This record gives sequence, C-alpha cells and structure tokens, in this order.
Amino acid sequence: MPAAIRITDVKKRYQSLQALAGVSLDIEEGEFFGLLGPNGAGKTTLISIIAGLTRADSGSVAVLGHDVVNQFREARRALGVVPQELVFDPFFTVRETLRNQSGYFGLSKNDAWIDEILHELDLTSKAEVNMRSLSGGMKRRVLVAQALVHKPPVVVLDEPTAGVDVELRQTLWKFIGRLNRDGQTIVLTTHYLEEAEQLCQRIAMLKAGEVVALDTTRALLKRVAGTQLVLGFSAGHVPRRLYARCIDPEAAPHAKRVSIRLSSVAEVEPILALCRTEGASVDQIELLGADLEDVFVQIMHGQGSGAAMQ
Ligand SMILES: Nc1ncnc2c1ncn2[C@@H]1O[C@H](COP(=O)(O)OP(=O)(O)O)[C@@H](O)[C@H]1O
Ligand SMILES: [Mg+2]
Repeated sequence: MPAAIRITDVKKRYQSLQALAGVSLDIEEGEFFGLLGPNGAGKTTLISIIAGLTRADSGSVAVLGHDVVNQFREARRALGVVPQELVFDPFFTVRETLRNQSGYFGLSKNDAWIDEILHELDLTSKAEVNMRSLSGGMKRRVLVAQALVHKPPVVVLDEPTAGVDVELRQTLWKFIGRLNRDGQTIVLTTHYLEEAEQLCQRIAMLKAGEVVALDTTRALLKRVAGTQLVLGFSAGHVPRRLYARCIDPEAAPHAKRVSIRLSSVAEVEPILALCRTEGASVDQIELLGADLEDVFVQIMHGQGSGAAMQ
C-alpha cells in the first residue's frame, strides 16, 4: 500500500535561503498528522510542493503513489489543500466558487455533496452570497469547503485556524475529525499546539527546513521529563527525607506545598509511602504532565536529547 504522502529528500532554495534542506517523511493512509514548526520553518513551502504549486530543487513527493510532478493530475486529484493565504475570485458566490472547483475536477453533478459540506461548515445561509462580502472567518470556511469538493482521500490544511474564532475551530475540527474517522488522511499545520496535541496521532517538527522530531504525539510527550508531582502538607511539614527530591530543596523545610520532578508516574507510590512512614499527612496531590508546548520549546531550542532527533 503506498503512503498517503511520501516525501523523499526534498530540497528547496530561494536565492541564498535554504527553505527545505532535505526533508524525508512518510505519512500513512488514515493518519491525522501534524506538521509543526516556527514561522519560516518551511511548512508552507513543503505543502506547496506537495500540491504541485512549487517545484522542489531535488527530491520527490508522491501522493498515494502518484509523483506530484510526473503524475500531476492523479496526485492533485488525490489531494485537497486548504492554503494558508485567502485567495478567491471576489465576484463569485460561495456556491459558484464550489461549483467551479468541482468543474476543475470534472464533477458536474456535485450539488448534493456541496450542500452537505455547506451544512457541516455552517455555510448554508451564505451559499448565495458573493465571496467579497464574507468575513475572514467565513472565507476560511469556504477555503476548507473548496478543498473537499472532490472528496480527496488526502487533505492538507495549512494553518486553517489562524485568526478564526473558537466556534469555527470547533466546527471545523468536528467535521475534519469525522472525515478522518471515515478514512481520509489529514495533514495539519497549526500554531495552536494544544490543538495539535488533541488531534494528531503523529507529529513532525520542522526547524529551518529540517525535520528535527518525528514521532507519535504520545511518545513526544513522554520524551520531556515534564511530569511533576505536587504535594500539599498544610497540616504539617514536608518530611526531611523528601527535601532532596524537591525542585526547590532549600524552600522545602518551610514549605506547605512542594513540587517533585518524576521520571515516571510509578515513583508516586514510594514517595507517598515515605510520607506515611515519616508521619507526614499529605492533603493535596496533583500530577502535572508535560504538554506539547514543553516538547516544542525543548526541541526548537536544541535542548532535546539525541534521541529526540531523527
Ligand atoms: N516565494 C518565496 N521567495 C523567497 N523566499 C520565500 C518564498 N516563500 C517562502 N520563502 C522563505 O522560505 C522560508 C520558509 O517559508 P515558509 O515555507 O512560508 O515557512 P512556514 O510556513 O513554516 O512559516 C522563509 O524564510 C520564507 O521567507
Ligand atoms: Mg506557513
């Protein structure tokens, strides 16, 4: 079975700037995949190459086995792209825009699906409105609709929720989630890391045109020693034998509440047992996990362990 998207050693240079420095990545069919990285990392450049809008200097990209240059039509048909920039012909209505896009793919009787997309994206009441009179958030919805008119098996969304309200983000993720459950492959770039953490099964992090991390979201979260145990001793004091374990050991003798960094949740039990044998009564227990933001910051600032790099 071919990968949904296979990216092999893709390089792209803009004058003196190496936008992509040899990116290789396989995205499997049915995945909900996140492509993350700071501004200028090369995400949009990579997506333009996948969409056949920009040529790579070297390397290759295939969508469901179709090379994006040599088999452009097949590759393009397999793909729905929601671009980062809002570009439209302002004189068409929403429905006309979607019909035109259907026509591009040779679909003449597509109105039932168009109506369903309009409904799912809360656009039904805007169907006959001209594109130029829509708000930015509404235009963004039409961009998403436009990417989906030909029911592409692979959908790539480049910052679809940048600057849109919470309501649209929720509508959008509900709909995209459904498409993914129905088997469509979803590739997403976003600035909202909590969004990526919730939605994506696997994540690639891009930095200065290179993949600096590639793993399941779960494994990425585990990489950061971010689990903290917070214990409260409001009725007594912190047991002496625990001082050295505390993040701030000097404050521990006088603290009512301390934080302890754990390398695994299995450490909680012996710590609580120690408190019990020392006669210290714990009246608050809280476990704080690392989130994707912690992972992102560590990897982007080069503090990721060797194992974090692939
Ligand atoms: N058409 C272009 N001409 C010159 N430089 C470009 C062009 N497109 C992108 N770049 C540069 O390539 C780098 C990667 O940009 P981009 O792919 O848009 O990153 P991202 O989407 O991750 O923010 C940036 O430094 C950007 O300024
Ligand atoms: Mg971009």
